[in-house]
Amino acid sequence: MFDPKTHCVVVVGAQWGDEGKGKLVDVLAERADVVVRYQGGANAGHTVVIGEEQFVLHQIPSGILHQGCTCLVGNGVVLDPETFFTELDRLHDRGVTTSGRLFVSDRAHLVMPYHKLLDAASEKSQQLGTTGRGIGPTYEDKYGRRGIRVGDLRHLEGACDLLASRVERANQLLAVMGAAERASLPQHIELLERLAPRLVPLASDTGLLVHRALRDGRRVLLEGAQGALLDVDHGTYPFVTSSNTTAGGAAVGAGIGPTAVDGVLGVVKAYTTRVGNGPLPTEATAGAGEELRRLGGEFGATTGRPRRCGWFDATVVRYSVRVNGLTGLAVTKLDVLDTFSEIPVGTAYEMDGGDCEEMPAEVRMLERVKPRYEVLPGWRKPLAGARRLADLPPEARAYLDRLQDLAGAPIRYVSVGTRRDQIIEV
Ligand code: IMP
Ligand code: MG
Repeated sequence: MFDPKTHCVVVVGAQWGDEGKGKLVDVLAERADVVVRYQGGANAGHTVVIGEEQFVLHQIPSGILHQGCTCLVGNGVVLDPETFFTELDRLHDRGVTTSGRLFVSDRAHLVMPYHKLLDAASEKSQQLGTTGRGIGPTYEDKYGRRGIRVGDLRHLEGACDLLASRVERANQLLAVMGAAERASLPQHIELLERLAPRLVPLASDTGLLVHRALRDGRRVLLEGAQGALLDVDHGTYPFVTSSNTTAGGAAVGAGIGPTAVDGVLGVVKAYTTRVGNGPLPTEATAGAGEELRRLGGEFGATTGRPRRCGWFDATVVRYSVRVNGLTGLAVTKLDVLDTFSEIPVGTAYEMDGGDCEEMPAEVRMLERVKPRYEVLPGWRKPLAGARRLADLPPEARAYLDRLQDLAGAPIRYVSVGTRRDQIIEV
């Protein structure tokens, strides 16, 4: 992805999340100087496998596993400080040193325990099947101009005053919702007093750091979380997350201008999954779905929930290419399809007997579409050892060619396993 003219690359999920962005970012980070997370929070779960070790990162950019990489948590992220430090300690335990190369935007909003209580008590959250990490309530407070930001911790007394009014408000809401639990102000104050001394030294104007890195000719990777169909504007609203997961959100959430971005890589699974509720037009029948889930290990990295599984949906990815301005695709988990003798691909939608070429805005309409399938022959050979396109059986090549044609963006990477080396650069 990086070349003399491409210094700033965005990596986004082009479906419903869990496409394997963690692995792609880890692979690309080898050539990057800076990796920035720009939206979402601990709802994300980015899995990276190195040798026999598996790392699941929720808050810290996946570039952290490369010693030479500076990692930034951007202003667009909602930061759960407790999860952040738990994750950081675990990395330290496993020998990853982060001193001097991990910074957090002083403009990032903090996820507080009362946000998680509100998420858990909310009927709306239940309907959507949120991750329960307090993401929605924290973004609500951000836009409601009631948020507490990382930079506020520089003046702890003032931050504790803010807390008092926020906890009181949260408890009023919890009472209205009929929830039994209440947020405790002393516990919140204790949390901030405990974590501020660790967090404040990491607080920085991260947008400025990115700006300077680019000015000095360094390579910057902007790491998205979730996927385009979970974008609060472009996704299957209201079954979406609370941030802009699409590439436009990268500039805002990292604190740079959109003209700084040189390329956008969309990560897609060779099939489709979704965790949580909402439409999934190419959802497979129970048997095939179960098989995909088993072979692909499709269980949520954050909540452990079984993911819903289905076939590649070209309408979704074509839409994603458009709304993200994708300049390339990375197809992941192709090896999961190794044993299937026939692989359906959703090429287009029909609605009420006619064509439906674009993603409808309303879920009510999306629930009515019927995917049109093309059935491609499987390759029935293990792909795990392939390192070049030429190593792939003709059926796998044909499958990728068809995906690329339907999606309308060039495939740049193909992943054939969880390990770092199991990648084909096209
Ligand atoms: P929230 O982001 O926790 O508010 O959840 C809203 C919706 O987004 C739910 O359907 C979640 O399952 C989904 N979601 C949030 N984060 C991820 C993720 O990282 N991968 C996949 N789905 C996610
Ligand atoms: Mg995930």
